[in-house]
Amino acid sequence: TLKKGKPMSILIEKNHRVVTIRLNRPKARNALNTQLLSELVSVLQELDQSPEVGCFIITGSDTVFSAGADIKEMRSKSYHQMVQEDYFSKWEQFTTLRTPKIAAICGPALGGGCELALMCDIIFAAENALMGLPEITLGVIPGIGGTQRLTKAVGKAKAMDMILTGKHLSAFEAEKAGLVSRVCPTEQLLDEAITAASVIAGYGKFATTSAKEAVDQAQEMSLKDGILFERRIFHALFATEDQKEGMSAFIEKRSPQFRGY
Ligand code: CAA
Repeated sequence: TLKKGKPMSILIEKNHRVVTIRLNRPKARNALNTQLLSELVSVLQELDQSPEVGCFIITGSDTVFSAGADIKEMRSKSYHQMVQEDYFSKWEQFTTLRTPKIAAICGPALGGGCELALMCDIIFAAENALMGLPEITLGVIPGIGGTQRLTKAVGKAKAMDMILTGKHLSAFEAEKAGLVSRVCPTEQLLDEAITAASVIAGYGKFATTSAKEAVDQAQEMSLKDGILFERRIFHALFATEDQKEGMSAFIEKRSPQFRGY
């Protein structure tokens, strides 16, 4: 629950079926502290359930996506405290959201900021974006999934290089590495993300959440199990009205009206 009276460290905007969450701690370059994490998860978990919400966009400002976990919050913590709090474990609640999420990155997305983008389903980058995991320069390692998700996203060679040297990728390098799906001029990034999110949100939510679930399983399952999982979900979608509507609309040469069930 959000603490009344405290300034929100995120801003929320709804355009039809798309919800944009803007990280909003400009003085700390959108560092991800415990308050921001709680607000983010609590807002998203509530909206995730809503049939009126078809896609999320996670973004920062025009100049910075996020400088990562809050170094000032962490600096003095002991090993004992980190374990007791199971620091960062609440991020798992972000990864279990079912609504598709697009990260729209302008400026640096470093450490936890890069890991936040890696926990989204699609990443769009502005030409001024920078992505990297510089935790090694602070005497630690990535702690919100970076060693695992970056390696799965770009392969061992590039992940080791980035994690061991702390070197950042430019937007175009990130696109070449397969980390980012689109690069756009900085001033067009949000429009591009809203357009893509509106397309996704215009399809049936049953179908988009199922598609996301199936792709996510590709990271977890063997090929044989993943293909069976996909086929069973494909079969299950024949229980939805959206499948009848989508296929009928094609045959009748009209636009489909998806209802999300
Ligand atoms: N945590 C807390 N405060 C941060 C911060 C962070 N991650 N990043 C920046 N800040 C603060 C700075 O301390 C500074 O505060 P003061 O005004 O009180 O001095 C303020 O934000 C502005 O910072 P800069 O002057 O550095 O801003 P800049 O615009 O010149 O540079 C930046 C922006 C490139 C993002 C730079 O701030 C930077 O490199 N930040 C740190 C990046 C980093 O190391 N991230 C990894 C964090 S650890 C982590 O994420 C662990 C994990 O795996 C989850």
